[in-house]
Amino acid sequence: MLRRLYHDQPESFAFTPANQAWAEAQITKYPEGRQASAIIPLLWRAQEQEGWLSRPAIEHVAAMLGLAYIRALEVATFYFMFQLQPVGSVAHIQVCGTTSCMIMGAEDLVGVCKAKIAKAAHALSADGKFSWEEVECLGACANAPMAQIGKDYYEDLTPERLEEILDELARGKVPVPGPQNGRYAAEPASGLTSLKDHASGKARHNASVALAVEIGDTVKRIDGTEVPLRTPWQGAAEAPSRAAEAAAKVAARAAAKPAAVETADAAKVARPKSVPAAPQAAVLVGVRPAALEAARDGAADDLKKIKGVGPKLEALLNSLGFYHFDQVAGWTAEEVAWVDENLEGFKGRVTRDDWVAQAKILAAGGETEFSKRS
Ligand code: FES
Repeated sequence: MLRRLYHDQPESFAFTPANQAWAEAQITKYPEGRQASAIIPLLWRAQEQEGWLSRPAIEHVAAMLGLAYIRALEVATFYFMFQLQPVGSVAHIQVCGTTSCMIMGAEDLVGVCKAKIAKAAHALSADGKFSWEEVECLGACANAPMAQIGKDYYEDLTPERLEEILDELARGKVPVPGPQNGRYAAEPASGLTSLKDHASGKARHNASVALAVEIGDTVKRIDGTEVPLRTPWQGAAEAPSRAAEAAAKVAARAAAKPAAVETADAAKVARPKSVPAAPQAAVLVGVRPAALEAARDGAADDLKKIKGVGPKLEALLNSLGFYHFDQVAGWTAEEVAWVDENLEGFKGRVTRDDWVAQAKILAAGGETEFSKRS
Protein backbone atom coordinates (compact mmCIF):
# COMPACT_ATOMS: atom_id res chain seq x y z
CA MET A 1 0.00 0.00 0.00
CA LEU A 2 1.30 3.41 -0.95
CA ARG A 3 1.56 5.60 2.11
CA ARG A 4 1.80 9.28 1.36
CA LEU A 5 1.30 12.44 3.34
CA TYR A 6 -2.20 13.87 3.22
CA HIS A 7 -2.78 16.51 0.55
CA ASP A 8 -4.28 19.06 2.95
CA GLN A 9 -1.84 19.81 5.76
CA PRO A 10 -2.24 22.12 8.77
CA GLU A 11 0.02 25.16 9.03
CA SER A 12 1.80 24.05 12.16
CA PHE A 13 2.00 21.56 15.00
CA ALA A 14 2.84 21.94 18.66
CA PHE A 15 2.61 19.52 21.55
CA THR A 16 0.46 20.65 24.45
CA PRO A 17 2.78 21.84 27.25
CA ALA A 18 2.23 18.61 29.18
CA ASN A 19 2.82 16.45 26.12
CA GLN A 20 5.93 18.50 25.32
CA ALA A 21 7.24 17.80 28.83
CA TRP A 22 6.42 14.12 28.37
CA ALA A 23 8.21 14.04 25.00
CA GLU A 24 11.31 15.72 26.43
CA ALA A 25 11.31 13.19 29.25
CA GLN A 26 11.15 10.31 26.76
CA ILE A 27 14.32 11.57 25.11
CA THR A 28 16.21 11.23 28.37
CA LYS A 29 15.67 7.47 28.27
CA TYR A 30 18.34 7.09 25.64
CA PRO A 31 22.14 7.41 25.89
CA GLU A 32 23.88 10.50 24.66
CA GLY A 33 23.98 10.53 20.88
CA ARG A 34 21.10 8.05 20.65
CA GLN A 35 18.22 10.47 21.19
CA ALA A 36 16.84 9.60 17.75
CA SER A 37 15.68 6.33 19.31
CA ALA A 38 12.82 8.28 20.85
CA ILE A 39 11.23 8.83 17.47
CA ILE A 40 8.46 6.25 17.71
CA PRO A 41 7.13 7.30 21.13
CA LEU A 42 7.23 10.94 20.09
CA LEU A 43 5.45 10.35 16.78
CA TRP A 44 2.94 8.19 18.62
CA ARG A 45 2.29 10.92 21.20
CA ALA A 46 1.76 13.44 18.40
CA GLN A 47 -0.77 11.05 16.89
CA GLU A 48 -2.46 10.44 20.23
CA GLN A 49 -2.84 14.19 20.59
CA GLU A 50 -4.10 14.99 17.10
CA GLY A 51 -5.53 11.67 15.96
CA TRP A 52 -3.19 11.54 12.97
CA LEU A 53 0.31 12.55 11.90
CA SER A 54 0.55 15.72 9.87
CA ARG A 55 3.66 16.86 8.06
CA PRO A 56 4.28 19.68 10.60
CA ALA A 57 4.01 17.11 13.41
CA ILE A 58 6.61 14.85 11.76
CA GLU A 59 8.87 17.86 11.19
CA HIS A 60 8.39 19.01 14.78
CA VAL A 61 9.45 15.60 16.12
CA ALA A 62 12.42 15.47 13.72
CA ALA A 63 13.55 18.88 14.94
CA MET A 64 13.23 17.83 18.60
CA LEU A 65 15.50 14.85 17.92
CA GLY A 66 17.97 16.66 15.68
CA LEU A 67 17.02 14.36 12.83
CA ALA A 68 16.86 15.09 9.13
CA TYR A 69 13.20 15.40 8.23
CA ILE A 70 13.45 12.54 5.73
CA ARG A 71 14.51 10.14 8.51
CA ALA A 72 11.40 10.92 10.51
CA LEU A 73 9.28 10.69 7.38
CA GLU A 74 10.71 7.23 6.66
CA VAL A 75 9.56 6.01 10.07
CA ALA A 76 6.12 7.63 9.85
CA THR A 77 5.42 6.21 6.41
CA PHE A 78 6.83 2.74 7.17
CA TYR A 79 4.66 1.80 10.14
CA PHE A 80 0.98 1.30 9.48
CA MET A 81 0.12 2.27 13.03
CA PHE A 82 0.77 5.86 12.05
CA GLN A 83 -2.24 7.49 10.43
CA LEU A 84 -1.12 9.84 7.68
CA GLN A 85 -4.54 11.32 7.06
CA PRO A 86 -7.19 12.79 9.36
CA VAL A 87 -9.25 10.24 11.25
CA GLY A 88 -12.75 10.57 12.66
CA SER A 89 -13.04 13.20 15.38
CA VAL A 90 -14.75 10.63 17.64
CA ALA A 91 -13.13 7.36 16.67
CA HIS A 92 -11.10 5.45 14.12
CA ILE A 93 -12.31 1.86 13.73
CA GLN A 94 -9.70 -0.79 12.91
CA VAL A 95 -11.38 -4.01 11.84
CA CYS A 96 -9.19 -7.11 11.90
CA GLY A 97 -9.47 -8.91 8.57
CA THR A 98 -7.04 -11.78 9.18
CA THR A 99 -7.87 -15.48 9.17
CA SER A 100 -9.81 -16.07 12.41
CA CYS A 101 -11.71 -12.83 12.14
CA MET A 102 -12.35 -13.33 8.43
CA ILE A 103 -13.79 -16.81 9.07
CA MET A 104 -15.94 -15.46 11.91
CA GLY A 105 -17.44 -12.57 9.97
CA ALA A 106 -14.97 -9.71 9.57
CA GLU A 107 -16.31 -9.02 6.10
CA ASP A 108 -19.71 -8.24 7.58
CA LEU A 109 -18.08 -5.83 10.03
CA VAL A 110 -16.34 -4.12 7.13
CA GLY A 111 -19.76 -3.97 5.47
CA VAL A 112 -21.10 -2.09 8.50
CA CYS A 113 -18.21 0.36 8.32
CA LYS A 114 -18.81 0.90 4.63
CA ALA A 115 -22.51 1.47 5.18
CA LYS A 116 -22.33 3.62 8.31
CA ILE A 117 -19.01 5.44 7.94
CA ALA A 118 -17.67 5.68 4.40
CA LYS A 119 -17.36 3.43 1.39
CA ALA A 120 -13.59 3.68 1.31
CA ALA A 121 -11.18 2.92 4.11
CA HIS A 122 -9.45 5.99 5.57
CA ALA A 123 -12.23 8.28 4.36
CA LEU A 124 -14.15 10.33 6.91
CA SER A 125 -17.84 9.84 7.55
CA ALA A 126 -20.11 12.62 6.32
CA ASP A 127 -20.22 14.19 9.80
CA GLY A 128 -16.46 13.77 10.24
CA LYS A 129 -16.92 11.71 13.38
CA PHE A 130 -15.68 8.33 12.17
CA SER A 131 -13.21 6.65 9.88
CA TRP A 132 -12.25 3.02 9.46
CA GLU A 133 -9.68 0.65 8.00
CA GLU A 134 -9.03 -3.07 7.78
CA VAL A 135 -5.92 -4.18 9.65
CA GLU A 136 -3.92 -7.35 10.08
CA CYS A 137 -4.27 -9.70 13.07
CA LEU A 138 -4.49 -7.78 16.34
CA GLY A 139 -3.77 -10.84 18.46
CA ALA A 140 -7.25 -11.38 19.82
CA CYS A 141 -8.02 -14.28 17.48
CA ALA A 142 -9.80 -16.32 20.18
CA ASN A 143 -12.39 -13.53 20.35
CA ALA A 144 -12.89 -13.16 16.61
CA PRO A 145 -14.22 -11.16 14.94
CA MET A 146 -12.97 -8.04 16.60
CA ALA A 147 -12.05 -4.42 16.05
CA GLN A 148 -9.80 -1.95 17.78
CA ILE A 149 -11.60 1.31 18.47
CA GLY A 150 -9.37 4.04 19.80
CA LYS A 151 -7.11 2.36 22.32
CA ASP A 152 -9.23 -0.65 23.20
CA TYR A 153 -10.50 -3.89 21.70
CA TYR A 154 -14.15 -4.74 21.04
CA GLU A 155 -14.35 -8.50 20.65
CA ASP A 156 -16.86 -11.20 19.73
CA LEU A 157 -18.56 -8.66 17.52
CA THR A 158 -21.59 -9.09 15.33
CA PRO A 159 -22.59 -6.60 12.65
CA GLU A 160 -25.57 -5.57 14.79
CA ARG A 161 -23.42 -4.98 17.86
CA LEU A 162 -20.89 -2.96 15.86
CA GLU A 163 -23.72 -0.79 14.56
CA GLU A 164 -24.90 -0.20 18.12
CA ILE A 165 -21.37 0.64 19.25
CA LEU A 166 -21.01 3.21 16.48
CA ASP A 167 -24.37 4.74 17.41
CA GLU A 168 -23.39 4.92 21.07
CA LEU A 169 -20.07 6.54 20.25
CA ALA A 170 -21.84 9.07 18.02
CA ARG A 171 -24.04 9.96 21.00
CA GLY A 172 -20.93 10.66 23.09
CA LYS A 173 -20.95 7.39 25.02
CA VAL A 174 -18.07 4.95 25.22
CA PRO A 175 -19.34 1.35 25.22
CA VAL A 176 -17.46 -1.00 27.53
CA PRO A 177 -14.70 -2.69 25.51
CA GLY A 178 -13.88 -6.39 25.58
CA PRO A 179 -16.07 -9.35 24.59
CA GLN A 180 -19.47 -8.18 23.42
CA ASN A 181 -21.24 -11.53 23.73
CA GLY A 182 -21.11 -11.94 27.49
CA ARG A 183 -17.85 -13.81 27.54
CA TYR A 184 -15.56 -12.85 30.41
CA ALA A 185 -12.33 -13.20 28.44
CA ALA A 186 -11.23 -15.84 25.94
CA GLU A 187 -12.75 -18.89 27.64
CA PRO A 188 -14.62 -21.46 25.52
CA ALA A 189 -17.81 -20.04 24.04
CA SER A 190 -19.58 -23.14 25.37
CA GLY A 191 -18.66 -22.25 28.96
CA LEU A 192 -15.87 -22.81 31.45
CA THR A 193 -14.59 -26.24 32.31
CA SER A 194 -11.86 -25.06 34.70
CA LEU A 195 -10.52 -21.91 36.37
CA LYS A 196 -14.04 -20.93 37.28
CA ASP A 197 -13.13 -18.45 40.02
CA HIS A 198 -14.37 -15.38 38.23
CA ALA A 199 -17.76 -17.05 37.82
CA SER A 200 -18.31 -16.33 41.53
CA GLY A 201 -19.28 -12.85 40.36
CA LYS A 202 -16.51 -10.99 42.20
CA ALA A 203 -14.86 -9.72 39.02
CA ARG A 204 -17.21 -8.06 36.61
CA HIS A 205 -14.64 -7.49 33.89
CA ASN A 206 -11.47 -9.25 32.83
CA ALA A 207 -8.23 -7.40 33.62
CA SER A 208 -7.96 -5.67 30.23
CA VAL A 209 -11.52 -4.43 30.29
CA ALA A 210 -11.31 -3.41 33.94
CA LEU A 211 -8.25 -1.29 33.13
CA ALA A 212 -9.93 0.22 30.07
CA VAL A 213 -12.97 1.16 32.15
CA GLU A 214 -10.78 2.54 34.90
CA ILE A 215 -8.62 4.68 32.58
CA GLY A 216 -11.58 5.74 30.46
CA ASP A 217 -9.59 7.16 27.56
CA THR A 218 -10.69 4.70 24.89
CA VAL A 219 -11.39 7.35 22.25
CA LYS A 220 -9.98 10.37 24.08
CA ARG A 221 -7.29 12.52 22.46
CA ILE A 222 -4.28 12.45 24.79
CA ASP A 223 -3.35 16.00 25.76
CA GLY A 224 -0.96 15.18 28.58
CA THR A 225 -3.29 16.09 31.41
CA GLU A 226 -3.95 12.44 32.10
CA VAL A 227 -2.62 11.20 35.41
CA PRO A 228 -0.23 9.59 35.91
CA LEU A 229 2.06 10.88 33.17
CA ARG A 230 4.82 8.46 34.03
CA THR A 231 8.49 9.27 33.64
CA PRO A 232 9.62 7.17 36.60
CA TRP A 233 13.32 7.40 35.72
CA GLN A 234 13.01 11.13 36.38
CA GLY A 235 11.80 10.85 39.95
CA ALA A 236 10.32 14.23 40.77
CA ALA A 237 9.31 14.88 37.16
CA GLU A 238 6.89 11.96 37.10
CA ALA A 239 3.98 14.14 36.15
CA PRO A 240 3.61 17.85 35.55
CA SER A 241 1.06 18.13 38.32
CA ARG A 242 3.26 16.17 40.69
CA ALA A 243 6.33 18.14 39.61
CA ALA A 244 4.44 21.34 40.35
CA GLU A 245 3.47 19.93 43.72
CA ALA A 246 7.08 19.00 44.47
CA ALA A 247 8.28 22.42 43.34
CA ALA A 248 5.77 24.12 45.61
CA LYS A 249 6.91 21.98 48.57
CA VAL A 250 10.57 22.73 47.92
CA ALA A 251 9.86 26.43 47.52
CA ALA A 252 7.96 26.42 50.81
CA ARG A 253 10.82 24.61 52.54
CA ALA A 254 13.35 27.02 51.07
CA ALA A 255 11.30 29.97 52.32
CA ALA A 256 11.19 28.45 55.79
CA LYS A 257 14.93 27.65 55.95
CA PRO A 258 16.73 30.02 53.56
CA ALA A 259 20.22 29.32 54.86
CA ALA A 260 20.01 25.55 54.92
CA VAL A 261 21.47 24.96 51.48
CA GLU A 262 24.26 27.45 51.86
CA THR A 263 25.68 25.71 54.89
CA ALA A 264 26.04 22.32 53.25
CA ASP A 265 29.68 21.33 53.41
CA ALA A 266 30.51 25.00 53.06
CA ALA A 267 34.05 24.72 54.35
CA LYS A 268 35.02 22.32 51.61
CA VAL A 269 33.13 23.64 48.61
CA ALA A 270 31.84 27.15 49.10
CA ARG A 271 29.41 28.34 46.48
CA PRO A 272 31.09 31.10 44.46
CA LYS A 273 29.11 34.15 43.48
CA SER A 274 30.46 33.91 39.96
CA VAL A 275 29.12 30.45 39.21
CA PRO A 276 26.91 30.99 36.19
CA ALA A 277 23.21 30.61 36.59
CA ALA A 278 22.12 27.19 35.48
CA PRO A 279 20.00 26.79 32.41
CA GLN A 280 16.34 26.81 33.41
CA ALA A 281 17.36 28.22 36.80
CA ALA A 282 13.72 29.08 37.38
CA VAL A 283 12.97 25.39 37.84
CA LEU A 284 12.14 24.94 41.50
CA VAL A 285 12.65 21.21 41.76
CA GLY A 286 15.19 20.09 44.33
CA VAL A 287 18.03 22.05 45.89
CA ARG A 288 21.03 23.36 44.01
CA PRO A 289 24.22 21.66 45.25
CA ALA A 290 27.22 23.66 46.35
CA ALA A 291 29.45 24.45 43.40
CA LEU A 292 33.03 25.50 42.70
CA GLU A 293 34.20 28.49 40.73
CA ALA A 294 36.92 26.39 39.14
CA ALA A 295 38.50 22.98 39.50
CA ARG A 296 40.62 22.60 42.62
CA ASP A 297 44.31 23.10 41.77
CA GLY A 298 43.19 23.62 38.19
CA ALA A 299 42.80 19.87 37.75
CA ALA A 300 39.25 18.67 37.19
CA ASP A 301 38.43 14.97 37.51
CA ASP A 302 37.56 13.16 34.31
CA LEU A 303 33.79 13.11 34.86
CA LYS A 304 33.40 11.04 31.70
CA LYS A 305 34.44 8.09 33.86
CA ILE A 306 30.91 8.25 35.23
CA LYS A 307 28.68 6.10 33.06
CA GLY A 308 26.19 8.38 31.31
CA VAL A 309 28.46 11.42 31.20
CA GLY A 310 29.83 12.24 27.77
CA PRO A 311 31.88 15.25 26.65
CA LYS A 312 28.78 17.48 26.36
CA LEU A 313 27.49 16.60 29.78
CA GLU A 314 30.95 17.01 31.30
CA ALA A 315 31.15 20.53 29.86
CA LEU A 316 27.66 21.27 31.14
CA LEU A 317 28.54 19.99 34.61
CA ASN A 318 31.69 22.11 34.67
CA SER A 319 29.66 25.15 33.64
CA LEU A 320 27.43 24.50 36.66
CA GLY A 321 30.45 24.38 38.97
CA PHE A 322 30.88 20.61 39.27
CA TYR A 323 34.40 19.35 38.54
CA HIS A 324 35.14 16.57 40.98
CA PHE A 325 33.90 13.09 41.85
CA ASP A 326 33.59 14.01 45.52
CA GLN A 327 31.18 16.81 44.64
CA VAL A 328 28.89 14.40 42.81
CA ALA A 329 29.36 11.75 45.50
CA GLY A 330 28.02 14.15 48.12
CA TRP A 331 24.77 15.09 46.40
CA THR A 332 21.66 14.49 48.47
CA ALA A 333 18.39 13.28 46.96
CA GLU A 334 17.13 16.86 46.68
CA GLU A 335 20.36 17.98 45.07
CA VAL A 336 20.15 15.10 42.59
CA ALA A 337 16.61 16.25 41.76
CA TRP A 338 17.88 19.77 41.07
CA VAL A 339 20.73 18.62 38.85
CA ASP A 340 18.44 16.18 37.02
CA GLU A 341 16.04 19.03 36.30
CA ASN A 342 18.77 21.40 35.12
CA LEU A 343 20.66 19.19 32.70
CA GLU A 344 19.24 20.84 29.65
CA GLY A 345 18.68 18.17 27.02
CA PHE A 346 19.77 15.41 29.43
CA LYS A 347 17.19 15.63 32.18
CA GLY A 348 17.05 12.68 34.52
CA ARG A 349 20.52 11.31 33.75
CA VAL A 350 21.83 11.52 37.32
CA THR A 351 19.10 9.25 38.60
CA ARG A 352 18.99 7.01 35.57
CA ASP A 353 22.68 6.07 35.78
CA ASP A 354 23.06 6.56 39.54
CA TRP A 355 25.95 8.99 39.23
CA VAL A 356 26.21 9.39 43.00
CA ALA A 357 26.98 5.70 43.59
CA GLN A 358 29.52 5.69 40.77
CA ALA A 359 31.13 8.93 41.98
CA LYS A 360 31.52 7.55 45.50
CA ILE A 361 33.64 4.69 44.17
CA LEU A 362 35.67 6.97 41.89
CA ALA A 363 36.17 9.60 44.61
CA ALA A 364 37.58 6.89 46.88
CA GLY A 365 40.14 5.99 44.21
CA GLY A 366 38.31 2.88 43.03
CA GLU A 367 37.09 1.91 39.60
CA THR A 368 33.64 1.01 38.33
CA GLU A 369 33.02 -1.56 35.62
CA PHE A 370 32.42 1.35 33.26
CA SER A 371 35.47 3.40 34.26
CA LYS A 372 37.71 0.36 33.78
CA ARG A 373 36.59 0.16 30.18
CA SER A 374 36.54 3.88 29.44
S1 FES B 1 -7.22 -12.85 13.27
FE1 FES B 1 -8.31 -11.16 14.08
S2 FES B 1 -7.28 -10.82 15.94
FE2 FES B 1 -6.15 -12.41 15.06
